[in-house]
Formats: sequence, C-alpha cells, structure tokens
Amino acid sequence: MKLAIGSDHVGFELKPAIIEYVKELGHEIEDFGTFSSERTDYPIYGEKVAEAVASGAYDGGILICGTGVGISIAANKVKGIRAVVCSEPYSAKLSKEHNNTNIVAFGSRVVGSELAKMIVKEWLDAKFIGGRHEKRVGMIGEIEKEQEEERKEKNEL
Ligand code: RB5
Repeated sequence: MKLAIGSDHVGFELKPAIIEYVKELGHEIEDFGTFSSERTDYPIYGEKVAEAVASGAYDGGILICGTGVGISIAANKVKGIRAVVCSEPYSAKLSKEHNNTNIVAFGSRVVGSELAKMIVKEWLDAKFIGGRHEKRVGMIGEIEKEQEEERKEKNEL
C-alpha cells in the first residue's frame, strides 16, 4: 500500500517508529509533517493527509496527535474521508471491515509505540467486507452529498 502519514507536534515523536514499522511491513509511506516538535496545529496535518488520501494518490492515511481526536475530526471534514481514532486494535480492524475507514488515527499521549504498531498492523491487514456494510457506508456518502446540495442551494438564493 502507498500510505500518507501526518502528526502535530505532540504526535511528532511517535511518528518515526510508525514510519519505520510500516516500511518493515513492506508498505510505502510519505510524511506530510509536522517535521519538528515546534508547537503547531493538528488541523493542518489532518487536512493534508485527508486530501492526499481523498485524491486517490494514496491508499490510506495514518494520523497522530495527543489523543488522535482533533486530527481525526479535522480529517473527517474532507469529503470521502472516513477516519477512525482508536486506542486498541479491535476497533481498528472492525473500522476497516465494517466502515471501510481510509485513515487511522491514535494519540501519542494515549498509546505507547508497541500498541500503536498493533493498531496500525490490524488496520492495514483488514479488508472491507462489503455486504450489508456497503449500504451503510453508502449512507455516510449520502450525508456528504446532501450537505453539499444544501450549500449549493443556499449560494443560489
Ligand atoms: C495539543 O496540545 C493537543 O490538543 C493535540 O495534540 C490533540 O490531542 C488534539 O486533539
């Protein structure tokens, strides 16, 4: 897989271990920043990675901030993104199998590097199982479309 990764300054220290691990697993990965521990804002990197994934140029994304919460919320604002924040591997696996997540996020203040690697591995290895879940994921896409249409209508008024 070709993956995109990003973090804020709090997730910055955990990121190299994750990059190395993902490469060991045989995947390609590109770092979208941040590139130092200087204070910055998590929405920047959530958006960058989300846009990279939504463009279709990457097969998935990994995001890290203090809790994984802010950066995943930011990523989920980008059309086509289904980002999950998790602190254990079970949710990571099921999020791919049932919800077809295309970004996994976690918090460097919440999980240690070994647990983070387990989360990443379960998420990378899992496959969307479709079936009854296809319709539900489709319904999420419908919400995006409805929102877009409402916005368009407002602009036309
Ligand atoms: C930064 O202090 C912190 O708020 C951020 O890393 C993240 O945890 C936000 O959700």
